[in-house]
Amino acid sequence: MLVTCGLPYTNGPCHIGHLRTYIPADFYVRYLRRAGEKVVFICGSDNHGTPIVISAEEQSVTPREMSERYHHHFDTTFTRMNIGFDHFGMTDDPTNHNRTQSIVQRLIDNGHVYRKTISQSYCPQCERFLPDRYVEGICPHCGAMARGDECDQGCGKHLESGELLKPVCKVCGGSAEFRDQEHFFFKLGDFSEFLEDYLPNLGGTSNARNYALGWVKEGLHDWCITRTLDWGVKFPGRNDLVVYVWIDAPIGYVSFTEEYMDAEGDDWKRLWCGDGRITHFIGQDIIYHHCVFWPALLKGAGYGLPHAVVASGMVKIDDKTFSKTRGYVVWTNEDYLDQGMSADYLRYYLLSYTSHTKELNFSWHVFQERVNNELVDTLGNFLYRTMHFAHKKLGCIPECRPDAEICDEIQKSIITVEGFVRDYEFKNAIDAMMALASFGNTYIQKNAPWKLMRDDPDQAAQVIRNCLQLVKALVLLFEPVIPGKAQIAWEMLGYSDAIAAHAIGEGITGLESATLPAPSIIFEKIEDEQVSRLDAILKKRVSEAKMKEKIPETISIEEFAKMDIRIARIVAAEPVQGSEKLLRLTVDLGDEQRQVVSGIAQFSTPAELIGTDVVLLANLKPAKIFGIESNGMILAAGDEASLLTPQKPVKAGTKIT
Ligand code: 2FM
Ligand code: ZN
Repeated sequence: MLVTCGLPYTNGPCHIGHLRTYIPADFYVRYLRRAGEKVVFICGSDNHGTPIVISAEEQSVTPREMSERYHHHFDTTFTRMNIGFDHFGMTDDPTNHNRTQSIVQRLIDNGHVYRKTISQSYCPQCERFLPDRYVEGICPHCGAMARGDECDQGCGKHLESGELLKPVCKVCGGSAEFRDQEHFFFKLGDFSEFLEDYLPNLGGTSNARNYALGWVKEGLHDWCITRTLDWGVKFPGRNDLVVYVWIDAPIGYVSFTEEYMDAEGDDWKRLWCGDGRITHFIGQDIIYHHCVFWPALLKGAGYGLPHAVVASGMVKIDDKTFSKTRGYVVWTNEDYLDQGMSADYLRYYLLSYTSHTKELNFSWHVFQERVNNELVDTLGNFLYRTMHFAHKKLGCIPECRPDAEICDEIQKSIITVEGFVRDYEFKNAIDAMMALASFGNTYIQKNAPWKLMRDDPDQAAQVIRNCLQLVKALVLLFEPVIPGKAQIAWEMLGYSDAIAAHAIGEGITGLESATLPAPSIIFEKIEDEQVSRLDAILKKRVSEAKMKEKIPETISIEEFAKMDIRIARIVAAEPVQGSEKLLRLTVDLGDEQRQVVSGIAQFSTPAELIGTDVVLLANLKPAKIFGIESNGMILAAGDEASLLTPQKPVKAGTKIT
């Protein structure tokens, strides 16, 4: 079978939102392999589309250069996170250009594509058409700000060219207009019946299936599948058009399989043109593309269809919507791995905290709690107690066989875990694994081999033999969750090969080694100090983002010159009735007196203020505050409204330049 993961765009680094999809996929693949299945695990980077061209332009590199840089970044980050794709390709590589053109040609030949002249946003200042993210405007469905192809900040609907209201060019900020241009459309509408038949039987998580069915029932629009860009896969026979990125990106799944299978001397068609049992792991935001658009495309081109789509919920950070611009983001390398934190701890937390189809509210404190209570105190504790005792008191694995009661318990856990994994309920699967570790702790505590050692050494050996069997089963079960730690524990059981070569079923078979190496502590607690450090990184980023939002990067001298800033002398000050914060001030500007309402009552008394020279923004549009007209703004700094005053005395009304 084939498992794929949504392809990351190559215009920014890997963050925790990415991991929410890749870690469950890697867990699933590892589990299936431990359960004896042959799985090909494919991913790659998504190099085309306007966001990449825009970012590359901003950084003065070519889109290819930027793609290669981030491609490499993702590839190495995944390796660091123990995410082991068989192949990680690039959508801009020749295999994908060829495969995309061949599939699009088939769609044309099969009558699923037509041409139509549409009005497209065009920037007269830049003299260019503005596809997708080159244009911004108002969503016609919900009124939120949206980009050309999608209402990304509002209702999430896909937008067709020309639908956006009040379009503005993202490059120069000028008003865009609409111009006619010929484009190619995919007859998605023709696939409604097919999708209504196909979707109810689609495997994977119910969120994917249900959303998709809902959209099909609402009615499908044909998709414009060409864009006026240089960067991308050329539409067959047209040098001026490339295909929409959502065509060549999923086709990347096919091309990367092709590259991998060719290198292995195998036939990729086995997976894509028959019943390849294809499972896609994706984020919830791209269900439409994978459950509506993609199956229709495959069907139209005569390929096999996905067997399952597994969609993971979105990530929130400390209860705030994930946002790179507002600083609510956790970068995988910079904020976590480079801080010396264990990849497996993060894997454990992301997999076990909430069902992966639900929204995950990420918090370093909860992360610490879960890791320390479960991984360290429950699993780690049982592993270490058993191995330490066995090594120190017995020095070897006792020759007796494990009790039937223990093997039954292990068998029961294996079956429970299997059921949950097959239903894509990974959190429940891990809870069942952890329950077996708790069973181990209770068992060793109740049977106290340290006491038995004196009175009944044979029975003590039996108890330890049972515990060692539980350890073996636990290590095999947990390998898909924490592969790095599991390998270390495996070696502590006396094995020298890769745990990945062993099946979960071996959890109830014998232990091969006679001797046991000295155990070490595999799971270290996460200290409060570490969490404070991780939290501080996040808080700093959020506050830096807030500053950035407030301060525009640069303004011109002409813009500054528009501000009339003067020294003003406060000549009268009194509280504003009904307000704890406001003072009504009268200020002298030399040739006139003004009334200004200022929010400084909590920090300065009227008596302190009278006679003080302050800085006034004198040409701020008049406003009514608490019903009183205010003609200007007194400038102050910081949370306690420290008033700005001239260093040397100057005349009231002096202009600040
Ligand atoms: O949404 C995204 O991040 C896309 N780059 C995912 C593409 S997945 C696939 F279809 F290629
Ligand atoms: Zn422009």
